[in-house]
Amino acid sequence: MTSGLWITLEGGDGSGKTTQAALLEQWLQEQGRRVVRTREPGGTEVGVLIRDIVLHHRGDIAPRAEALLYAADRAHHVATLVRPAIARGDVVIQDRYLDSSVAYQGAGRVLDGDQIRDLSLWATEDALPDVTVLLDVDPATARERLDAADKPFDRLEAEKSAFHERVRTAFLMLADAEPQRFLVVDATQPVEVIAEAIRARVAQRLS
Ligand code: TYD
Repeated sequence: MTSGLWITLEGGDGSGKTTQAALLEQWLQEQGRRVVRTREPGGTEVGVLIRDIVLHHRGDIAPRAEALLYAADRAHHVATLVRPAIARGDVVIQDRYLDSSVAYQGAGRVLDGDQIRDLSLWATEDALPDVTVLLDVDPATARERLDAADKPFDRLEAEKSAFHERVRTAFLMLADAEPQRFLVVDATQPVEVIAEAIRARVAQRLS
């Protein structure tokens, strides 16, 4: 049986994760791999309910409550969808994982990043992806993309630029700390150049 692979995509809002996830899925399917595409928050039925709270609740959510909601979504997602898919030998392509919590709830909301990471590791019984792609883009460029898309902003997207600067710095620090797991890609490059860099890393892990 082929062994499974778990790939997560990380980056600020407007960094192009969804486009790259779709291209990677298509390429993997052409290689004959079975792919499960999923995301956090909201990869399961329970997760969809949690996603609605964390992204669309009108009014404040206490930072620790927000962190727990993302961790709860993650616990259910990993246990019921991600682990079974990897065990079957599928490739999981996942939009956001625990690094998003460390960046957004840790650096963004100014909670202790190590505690946030430990919370997610507890929630998932220490599950870490094989490959994490960080699509790095400066928040001003990302904001222009989001404005051009002309969709209403969710609670996190609506945060001010200093918040998004902290999130970006935190992602880069996480990547520095775990170079084996992370691939950092300059997300201002053309879509096809980024896709090729991701394919190269994934191909290396599959061989
Ligand atoms: P995302 O699905 O990337 O948004 P969109 O559907 O608009 O592309 O992510 C939703 C938001 O949730 C994003 O602003 C980042 C935030 N988030 C956290 O703050 N913590 C987390 O742990 C995760 C997974 C996401």
